[in-house]
Order: sequence, then structure tokens, then C-alpha cells
Amino acid sequence: MAEDTARRCALVCVTGCIAAYKACELVRLLQKGGLRVKVLMSEHATHFVDPLTFRALTHEPVAVGLFDDPSDPIHHISLAQEADIVLVAPGTANIIAKMANGIADDLISTTLLATTAPILVAPAMNVNMWRAAATQENIATLIRRGIEIVSPGVGYLACGDVAEGRLADPADIAERAFAVLDSSDLLTGKRIVITAGPTHEPIDSVRYIANRSSGKMGCALARAAQRMGADVALVLGPCQASVPAGVKVIKVETAAEMLEATVAAFEGASMAICAAAVADYTPKAPANRKLKKGLDKLDTIELTQTADILASLSERKGDRIVIGFAAETGDAVDYGQSKLARKGCDAIVANDVSRADSGFGSDTDKAWLITRTGVEELPVLSKDELAREILLRTLRLMGK
Ligand code: CTP
Repeated sequence: MAEDTARRCALVCVTGCIAAYKACELVRLLQKGGLRVKVLMSEHATHFVDPLTFRALTHEPVAVGLFDDPSDPIHHISLAQEADIVLVAPGTANIIAKMANGIADDLISTTLLATTAPILVAPAMNVNMWRAAATQENIATLIRRGIEIVSPGVGYLACGDVAEGRLADPADIAERAFAVLDSSDLLTGKRIVITAGPTHEPIDSVRYIANRSSGKMGCALARAAQRMGADVALVLGPCQASVPAGVKVIKVETAAEMLEATVAAFEGASMAICAAAVADYTPKAPANRKLKKGLDKLDTIELTQTADILASLSERKGDRIVIGFAAETGDAVDYGQSKLARKGCDAIVANDVSRADSGFGSDTDKAWLITRTGVEELPVLSKDELAREILLRTLRLMGK
């Protein structure tokens, strides 16, 4: 028994959905990976799978009601504290809505609110329920708070549709759970500076030069670094990307402001990642009023080059790690290699923004990690997955 409690504990919360039966396989996979598994079920989930099934699989009591354990009146708190990771699989629209709104009215929702362990949600529901604005907004809220979502796949749904909403493969859910557990303290004690988004370079008091950067990649990196335990400072240009909760955000407008904020934040940091699409040129003499067509010369704007933030950080980095990005339209690896040499950083993540599955605004990316020792090609990944891969591979490459 002593050895058992020494093992890491996964709490699997099964909510009311036909895919509840797939949680049995998930439990097995987590156990095979060396975890001790405890299962909580919602009242509705017990209509699909008998608690006895999970009890037999885990050799642990299966809790359903808040007051099921007469020996422990605050069962939800003990469960929340015992868990090294909490999985919600399958996760219904209802539990997702409760989580997003902090509702705690049964054992699962109360435990989820009380835990400080990483939480992973694998949603499963009817396609329209999944696509409903309320569900999508709730999912965005959970992502912003650092909760890991294993997106549902397309497949045969209980309602007869073949569409999005099907629980992700239990093997994929288990793999993500192990990835979260294995990387949860890799960056503990490290401060990381990340630049993200575009910059706005003023022409006059109402017009500016900008680019199409969404800021999503930098925010995904901030989220991944924070999940690995880092203390993250995100220097963010003007954009709509969801900023992860708990990350220190320094909002800037121009390339000059981004340079100043990033260099200041880099003092005392151990790593910097420049994911921002910084404007290369800025108007030489922006007007502090609105320029007028008839009165002012608007057909030519004189520009001056901005400072290169990545190169500035690389110059002062010492043995700290500095990573840059190269967003290219073709020949991403060649351009990436020359940027690595020109900017003096440790690695460049090159991606081809001309592809439909990569680049500005896209939710996925095809990238190559380029260092002085070689080029690693990565598969098409979601920005969250790519962010984690970049951090893991860079740490590995640097022998940290
Ligand atoms: N970068 C930066 N400061 C700048 C310009 C770029 O920190 N003034 C960083 C970006 O954040 C990115 C890397 O440099 O990490 C490459 O940016 P990119 O725009 O692809 O390259 P440029 O140096 O601008 O070269 P080019 O426009 O010729 O592709």
C-alpha cells in the first residue's frame, strides 16, 4: 500500500455521455503508464456505465455524490489534493460550462474547482452542442486559464451524424496526460520572456502600418511555458489573441516600445522567445494629428528601419537561450538558416506561412526547428502542441 500511494495519481472524472464506456480503456492506459487511477462519476454517467466497472478496474472506491464517503465529510478536497492530474473524459457541454463559470454543485465540479493539479478535458457531445457559441466560448475560457483540451474528432456520433464531437482516441488522451505530467516542472524557477503579435507603427494620429500576425503562437508559447512551471513575461503587440491567465502581460504598440520592454524583461530571465512579427520599418516622422488628403503629402511615407529585438537579445544573452521565428512564404528552411546566422540566436523556428495549414491566423503550423547542429522537421501541429514541442526540444538541444 505504501508503494501505491507513492505512485502519481490520476483522477478521471467521467460525465454523462455515451462515450463514458471509452473511459474504461482510458483508465487502463493510464494504469499501464504507471499511474494510480481514481474515478469520479457524475450521476448521469452512472446511467451509461456502472460504477462497479471502474471499481473493478481501479480497485479503488468510485465516488459519485458529494457525501458518498461517510468517513470524509470534505471528500472533494481530499480528492483534489491527492491528484497529480485530473482528466475530464468524456467531458459534456454541461461540465465544461460549469468549469468555465466556477459552478461547484456536485462532486466532480467541486473537485475541479478545488484542485491545483493540471486539468485535461476531452469533450464529447453532439456536433451542434460542440459548435454552439456558448460551448466554444466556454472552451476558450478554459484554454485561457491553462486547461488542456484534447479536441474531439470527427466520427460516428450517437445521434447518427458523422461529424465533429466524438471523444478523442483514449490513447491520444492518455498520451497528452503523460506529456502534461512529464513536463509540468521542467521550467520551474525559470523566467521566460516571449514577444508576440504585430506592432503598429504610426503614420499619424489615426493611421498606422501593421501586419497580419494574430499573436496566437506567442500566446500558445506563454501558455506552454507556464504549464511547465515557468514565470512568463509576455510582451504583446496589439492583437485579439487569448492571453493565458497568470502570465505577466506587457502591452506595447510599436517596435521601439517592444524593444524597450523586452530588453528590460530579459534582465533576470533565463530564456527569450521572439515570436512577434515586428515591423521592419516605421514612419520617420509620424504626425501627431490626422493628415489631410488635400493639405498634406500622403502619397509617400518616409520610413526608417526599426531595431532588431531578436538580434539585440542575442548580443546580450551570454549563456542564456534565445529563440527566434522565421515566417516565410517558401524556402522556410533556407531563410531560417540564414536568419539563425545573421541574428546570433540559439534556434530558429521556421514556418511556411503560404501554406493553408500554417502561419498567420491559422490554428495549426508546419515548422522546422533550426539550430547550429541541424534541422528537425516537425509534423503539422496545433499551435499549443507546437509550443510544447519547441520548449521541450530546445531544452533538450541545449542539454538543460
Ligand atoms: N525580429 C525582431 N525584431 C525585428 C524584426 C524581427 O525581434 N525588428 C524577430 C522576429 O520576432 C522573429 C525573427 O526576428 O523572431 C525573424 O523575423 P522576420 O520578420 O521573419 O525576419 P526579418 O529579420 O524581419 O527578415 P525579413 O523581413 O527579411 O524576412
